[in-house]
Amino acid sequence: MNNFYVTTPIYYVNDKPHIGHAYTTLLADILARYHRALDVPTFFLTGTDEHGQKVEKAAKEHNMTPQEQCDTTVTRFKELWDKLEITNDDFIRTTDQHHKSIVQKILQDLYDRDLIYKAEYSGRYCVPCERFFTEKDMDDDALCPECGRGTDEIVESNYFFRMGNYQEWLIDYIKTHPDFIQPSFRANETLGFLKKPLADLCISRPKSRLSWGIELPFDADYVCYVWFDALVNYISGIGYGSDDAKFAKWWPASYHLIGKDILTTHTVYWPTMLKAMNIEMPEAIFAHGWWLIGDSKMSKSTGNVVNPMDMAERYGVDPFRYFMVSEMSLGQDCSFTEEIFITRYNSDLANDLGNFVSRAMKMIARNSNSKIPQPGPETDAEVELKTAALAAVSKMRDAIENMKLDRGLDAVMNAVRAGNRYFEQTAPWKLAKDENPERLNTVLYSAAELLNIVSALLSPVMPLKMCELRNSLGLDSNVNINQFNEWGTLKPGTEISDPGSLFPRIDTKKSKEQSNKKQPQQSKNSGKKSDKDSKSENSAGLITIDKFFETKLKTAKVLEAEKVEGADKLLKLQIDIGNEKRQIIAGIAESYTPEEIVGKIIIVVANLQPAKIRGIESQGMLLAAKNKKRLTLVTLDADIPPGLSVG
Ligand code: ME8
Ligand code: MG
Repeated sequence: MNNFYVTTPIYYVNDKPHIGHAYTTLLADILARYHRALDVPTFFLTGTDEHGQKVEKAAKEHNMTPQEQCDTTVTRFKELWDKLEITNDDFIRTTDQHHKSIVQKILQDLYDRDLIYKAEYSGRYCVPCERFFTEKDMDDDALCPECGRGTDEIVESNYFFRMGNYQEWLIDYIKTHPDFIQPSFRANETLGFLKKPLADLCISRPKSRLSWGIELPFDADYVCYVWFDALVNYISGIGYGSDDAKFAKWWPASYHLIGKDILTTHTVYWPTMLKAMNIEMPEAIFAHGWWLIGDSKMSKSTGNVVNPMDMAERYGVDPFRYFMVSEMSLGQDCSFTEEIFITRYNSDLANDLGNFVSRAMKMIARNSNSKIPQPGPETDAEVELKTAALAAVSKMRDAIENMKLDRGLDAVMNAVRAGNRYFEQTAPWKLAKDENPERLNTVLYSAAELLNIVSALLSPVMPLKMCELRNSLGLDSNVNINQFNEWGTLKPGTEISDPGSLFPRIDTKKSKEQSNKKQPQQSKNSGKKSDKDSKSENSAGLITIDKFFETKLKTAKVLEAEKVEGADKLLKLQIDIGNEKRQIIAGIAESYTPEEIVGKIIIVVANLQPAKIRGIESQGMLLAAKNKKRLTLVTLDADIPPGLSVG
């Protein structure tokens, strides 16, 4: 590979960063560090998206000017990246004068070439939401699809980018470049989106509606649509339009890393914009999955937003980095809870790695005078260990090239576990007692060499702890992974020191007490209700209204019912929930016969994940009250149709 240029989304500065933002940035950082460790020239860009409605609205809420809102919040991001040891080469803010002038240059150029034109269009506007909707976004009632309030008809002139021109080209490009959008199911998602006619993109906002943006160079009554402005960061940040040599060096990007929420803007808007500008496509756009809290979406209203700064402070920067990238299978959604964090920490870091480090280092200190010993002849045990270590090296290289970091880390942890097994098998403590110095030296040397390789491979993920470990092994903390294709590079005679306990076990009881203790202190600082406050509300058994509305209850009509063979309690029901028919399995056979229940209007949970009960698919759940063993269905006291929402 020649050069490696990796980007993160630039984050909105309407609010402080959470673990979702931290994840994408960590992923980019780790990829950047691996490439540097492979001696590949690397550029890593991150930054903030500072214009547009979200930021303007947040500024109003905080009684600040939009610029003050940006300046305050950007420091929260920068402080977090410092804390998390993020090694970005530059940090772009879309309010930077440099960026603004490049966006204007691009707009003017597209306008001059008639790729941007002015047109009048009509739609409906929701004043409280400050959102514009076209007829196709709304039902016949013309109520706001966001808040359900009334909307006003507006006719507005705006500027449009001829995105529609590029539809056929884009479909063809995606089909002929299988690595362009990753994972491949996201390419299919984009192709699905492109089945409908691709409309031109409205790239302006009248200042009367939104003034916080980059002014259009050809019409001072308008500002640029925030996405058109934001996407340009990927090129304005590396010299496009200002430093041709720099731009030529880094473009095309190797990876635009994004979350799955912003797929269309990156796989449709951005490629067509680049095409119009006659710029080469990025090599790959990679959309990762979503961090969920338990099973639910992280959101301010639910009060379950996890602050990465707190995590890093409580458990350490390196363990937090390690957890985030090893826990999530790249591309898939993943669940975050403190319990899951602690479980992984204790098993991978405290037990497997931490244990191996402390056993190996103590044995060398005690039996080899704190010097790496000279190994004797290899036995099968060493061959096995060496094989596991070198497999980790090659799997990690593969993982980096194929965006499977989590798998690479699995391979490294396998090598660590092989190390612990090696100790069990060779029992160096016995060899020490038996006075078998040659064999003991071989075992200790091999253990130290394994640590050499493992610490190098883990350096990009846990830079601080691995630096400590490598220094205590008398090794350079600047690693070049290319040097780890062979076994046995560690020099006998090198002096080692005790790194202490790198990953002390987390006592689950203690850590709960600590996080409880932290609560009052935090809410005092923030003035507003903090995340933790709403969590304690939860522990008092109360939920917010949003939480309740996550459960979609609907009226349904039972069309058919039959007993499930071999299950005394179960009935299989076919129900009508308004616009669709579903099958559910309900445990009510001891209280209702199939004949009794057919025709009834019942209430069901409509957004329950389908499950198999006794091998039969159940797509929902009905509501019933239980009195001892007898169940009574929740029904309604008027004759109403199926498919209505309940709540
Ligand atoms: O969309 N799990 O900014 P943004 C995983 N400014 N990743 C998450 C996440 C979660 N729960 N929540 C957020 C914007 N992310 C635009 C981008 S780019 C030219 C403009 C991450 O502040 C993920 O990377 O809403 C997602 O794409 C990004 O934060 C969105 O950040
Ligand atoms: Mg967002």
